[in-house]
Amino acid sequence: MNKAIYPGSFDPATYGHIDIIRRSAAIFDELTVSVLDNMRKTSLFSVDERVNILKELTKEFDNVRVASYSGLLADYCKSVGAHVIIRGLRAVTDFDYELQMAQTNRILSDAGVDTVFLTTDLRYAYLSSSTVREVAGFGGDISEFVPPYVAKLTYAKFGKNL
Ligand code: PNS
Repeated sequence: MNKAIYPGSFDPATYGHIDIIRRSAAIFDELTVSVLDNMRKTSLFSVDERVNILKELTKEFDNVRVASYSGLLADYCKSVGAHVIIRGLRAVTDFDYELQMAQTNRILSDAGVDTVFLTTDLRYAYLSSSTVREVAGFGGDISEFVPPYVAKLTYAKFGKNL
């Protein structure tokens, strides 16, 4: 079985993430979307909230599950028997960081884990979770960035009922 992990912060999940999930689920037998539980990083949504959001957004995909992890991604991949990490590449500005992460994970896993990059759909090439948080925080329109369900939850975090 060809298992892949799509790791990230997903704070919150955007249409860009959903697009990568849909496309990787069509390539791999089983895809686990995994939220990093990072105590050192402050987030808008708790890990449980982000997992629940992703579960809701991926419920139509039979071969997608959602989980969280802490610690090293390479160790997590080994513990669940996954040999592939999926990452989306939006633009050349992502490349340095992604290359560094891919090489590090390959070394840490004794070449047991490879990273597969999917180029982000051009419609979402500009999009990031931090943009969503920033725009929502000022009460701006995030309907082009996230599904209505996520938009409602995101506005609520800022005390807005838009
Ligand atoms: O959505 P993000 O924040 O770009 O995702 C980054 C993430 C969570 C995939 C990455 O930071 C991660 O997995 N960190 C866990 C710690 C780790 O394994 N570090 C070594 C690889 S650089």
